[in-house]
Amino acid sequence: LILNISATATHPIPSTLYGYMWEDISHSGDGGLYAELLQNRAFQGVIPGTQNALNAWQPFNGARLSVTSKTAGISASLPNSLEVQIPKVVSGPIGFENTGFWGIKVQSGWTYNGSFYAKAASFSGTMTVSLKSTGGTILATKEISGISKKWKKFTFEFQPSASAENEQNVFSVVVDGKAAAGQTIFFGMFSLFPPTFRGRENGMRIDLAEALAATQPGVWRFPGGNNLEGLSFDTRWKWNETIGRLEDRPGRVADWGYPNTDGLGLLEYLNWAEDLGAEPILGVWDGISTANYSELDTWTIVPEADLQPYIDDVLNELEFIVGDAKTTEGGKRRASLGRTEPYALKYIEIGNEDMFQPDSYAGYRWNAFVTAIGAKYPNFEFLATTLPSTALTPAYQRIDFHMYSTPTWFTANAFMFDAYPRNGTQWFVGEYAVTSTNETNTLGDLPSGRLANPTLQGAVAEAAFMTGMERNSDVVFASAYAPSLQHIRSYQWTPDIITYDAMNMVKSTSYYVQQMFSLNKGTHVLSTTPVASNDTAPLFWVASYNNDTDVVSLKVSNAGTQDLVANIFLDGFSATKFASAVSLSSPVLSPISGQFSASNTLEEPEQIIPVSTAFALPFSDRFNYTFRAMSVTVISVQAA
Ligand code: AHR
Repeated sequence: LILNISATATHPIPSTLYGYMWEDISHSGDGGLYAELLQNRAFQGVIPGTQNALNAWQPFNGARLSVTSKTAGISASLPNSLEVQIPKVVSGPIGFENTGFWGIKVQSGWTYNGSFYAKAASFSGTMTVSLKSTGGTILATKEISGISKKWKKFTFEFQPSASAENEQNVFSVVVDGKAAAGQTIFFGMFSLFPPTFRGRENGMRIDLAEALAATQPGVWRFPGGNNLEGLSFDTRWKWNETIGRLEDRPGRVADWGYPNTDGLGLLEYLNWAEDLGAEPILGVWDGISTANYSELDTWTIVPEADLQPYIDDVLNELEFIVGDAKTTEGGKRRASLGRTEPYALKYIEIGNEDMFQPDSYAGYRWNAFVTAIGAKYPNFEFLATTLPSTALTPAYQRIDFHMYSTPTWFTANAFMFDAYPRNGTQWFVGEYAVTSTNETNTLGDLPSGRLANPTLQGAVAEAAFMTGMERNSDVVFASAYAPSLQHIRSYQWTPDIITYDAMNMVKSTSYYVQQMFSLNKGTHVLSTTPVASNDTAPLFWVASYNNDTDVVSLKVSNAGTQDLVANIFLDGFSATKFASAVSLSSPVLSPISGQFSASNTLEEPEQIIPVSTAFALPFSDRFNYTFRAMSVTVISVQAA
């Protein structure tokens, strides 16, 4: 291949081109990015009296535990408490433990901030809180006293002097058996936080946050996904129940099989997007709920005549986010929670995947929300969630497209945007990932071809598709890989971009592709001759220029099973001497060895990682490069 990169820029690349779609799925929020270490911390979304309500809690030395709502809870939003009955005859310490999100990371040098509420009718003894290994080794401990008849919040700090060997540690609360014999003690809303990303209170788990931040995402689409919609109208994601004191957030049953604490709420998301430097794309509830992903036919839709309260709710949400802190009720409320400055919000997505129910969307839902919001906020831009074939009134300007499919689909559609009409409408590829190798069942189970983790082949195919997005970023203004995170001990979806347990995490091949593309985005697309096309497959490419750094970037996906050499010419640039390349490929070249379907895993986290090289150019305007079989490469040339 002879590839000419011209100094002629075709169009600017939007800062929003690469990013993530976010919802709490696979414990990506609770137990994942949200740094809280105690699972089921406030008994939210559970039925008192059931065994399930005690999820993650276990008795120690014979205490009797149950979750109850018979005694007043610590707040109107958190009616459930942990009832701990101490038998009449007992000796030694007795109490209970929380097993965390399948373990707790205990690290020396970290300060852990803990709290809980407690009350007891006639017990006033000391309580001992600890972090300890499941084998019984105490790693940090504190004595707590002052329990009385009324709910009281106790706070404490742990500073473990040694790190635990592994994640098999628990948070424990015990009292002296003799002193407490025959007593009942109630506990409510526990919390235990390690240090967080940027030290934010109620913040993010550092390793996961740093990993996501290291890809410099340009967009953060939240809060779903199905998890926005709820299993019913009443269990939808309610913005106003995710703000304020944690004690005032009831949590919800949520869509993905486990309760959400909503500790990771609207403000936490908006602050996080700011920390990332990502443009928030806010999904608002648009009158539809669904049972869950596998039951797509069980939709419930708010009739047109009943929609107004939900529209008002969204208007209130938006006023809370962008309203003036002095003159609007929403803005005042936000300011009372510590944020005076309105958030910079521009993109509002009306619902999620309404292509499954286009009739009511086109019939009245889209129009009702867009008209009401647009009347109050003329500067917002709205994203529709039906496919482009659905005509909407008012006509959409931006539309969200989702695709979970095979490597074959992603490479075959790498040129789908080339012919997209330049008529003013733009696409957001709001969810995408290679999920399977099975063309006929792309969201099936593992035996049918579903990927457990992103593979090299999948990441290369995603990269091929992404070259098409970037080349056409005059009409593809943003994209969001989905879903993003997965707790290996409890998940509902594969593959995911980062996998972790309580202790460790692993970056997938797809993660590295997102990072390579995002970090080398450039400010303008450059034209190339030839233009990448079906004729040049399995090589896919896009070239860009960064006006700020004068770097030419060439992103290339070789989705084939052979190494391919290109003679690359730089037309019209100033003299250049040096180039660098970062490449993701298999260290073993044979497809027969199975390396093309290899993945990074917690056990083998660095099977496939990007490798960087720097090289001098023999001539200022040309060089040869070998693109290895099944690889993604970004070549950067300093052009001035
Ligand atoms: O990303 C997982 C799910 O896939 C999302 O919740 C939904 O929007 C899509 O169908």
